[in-house]
Amino acid sequence: MDLDAAAARLGVPVEDVDRVHRLAGDRPSAPLPAKADAPALLERLAVPPDDAAEIMEGWPDPGSPLWTPELRWLLDRSIALVRADLGGHGWLPPGPELPRERGPAWRHLYVYAYLALVGVATGYHRDHGVADTVSWASLADLGRNLAVDRRMRGEGWPVMQSWLTLHARGSIYELGRLQYHRGGATLDLHIPESGPMPPEAVAASLDEARAFFPRHFPDEPYTEFACGSWLLDPQLLEYLPEDSNIARFQRRFELEPYEEPEGLDADVEVRRFVFRDLTTPLDRLPCRTALQRAVVEHLRAGRHWYWHRGRFPIQPHP
Ligand SMILES: CC(C)(COP(=O)(O)OP(=O)(O)OC[C@H]1O[C@@H](n2cnc3c(N)ncnc32)[C@H](O)[C@@H]1OP(=O)(O)O)[C@@H](O)C(=O)NCCC(=O)NCCS
Repeated sequence: MDLDAAAARLGVPVEDVDRVHRLAGDRPSAPLPAKADAPALLERLAVPPDDAAEIMEGWPDPGSPLWTPELRWLLDRSIALVRADLGGHGWLPPGPELPRERGPAWRHLYVYAYLALVGVATGYHRDHGVADTVSWASLADLGRNLAVDRRMRGEGWPVMQSWLTLHARGSIYELGRLQYHRGGATLDLHIPESGPMPPEAVAASLDEARAFFPRHFPDEPYTEFACGSWLLDPQLLEYLPEDSNIARFQRRFELEPYEEPEGLDADVEVRRFVFRDLTTPLDRLPCRTALQRAVVEHLRAGRHWYWHRGRFPIQPHP
């Protein structure tokens, strides 16, 4: 493969193609599921019907004219790149950001990679004794992300394509209301968009995690839960009532000394999670909820939001 020519035809920087080439090398890929099984699999992964239709339309059949040799190479090597880090927990872009407007193969290339990796991930789960229900609940974050990306008119995908490699590598587990990210020094919490997060649901999920990780990952002795999020910005308390779910969530944590996270702008992240929109001018954003009004008022006053990290012991103090 001539990497310069491939990059030009893919419309991406050659360094990104070179990175895939280096990381994937000639490591093993994984086959896509049979096309006949795909509709049921997509349903199991909570993929909404409009996305499922596009994914089926762009399916990488052997003779499909939608799939140029470069796209086929990238799909195959992207799967190999992610698979090579099975069990890993770091942020791992699966390949370059593609010009997705070019068609369904371009739009969903990393979704096809994810589908190929579902078998790899469930195998990893089984090796750790993880129940099927947890496996599928965790992997179904694909559908949730596709739905959000559609609402965001494609603006969400560049981050999501990396985020979803965590699931494919057996690093994210959804237990009730929260997702848990294993493999680091702390057991990190993520909050999926699935309605409000009342404290009882959070507590039940934390209890599940307290039992789950020692059982399935006994070699990873976590002592603390941790979270990095816009949700932990204490400035939110200037606007939200004390008994709001966000305020109650914050109270669980002891904040770490503030450090600006590399490559992450909290004002953008707040817009991502509160409006699902990164580009509309401030004065045209909807102000339907207390939080939306707070975010707009705060930014219009020239203030900023901050991404904080906090932690608390896994075993509550007696
Ligand atoms: C985290 C989350 C579940 C909290 O929602 P919640 O349980 O309703 O939170 P609260 O009870 O504290 O809400 C207080 C107010 O803010 C509003 N609000 C909370 N989260 C909101 C959001 N993401 N977008 C718009 N409004 C929101 C609520 O509707 C409520 O306003 P109201 O009284 O006018 O109805 C919600 O923000 C969410 O789904 N976020 C997306 C995922 C996310 O941000 N994950 C963390 C990534 S780092």
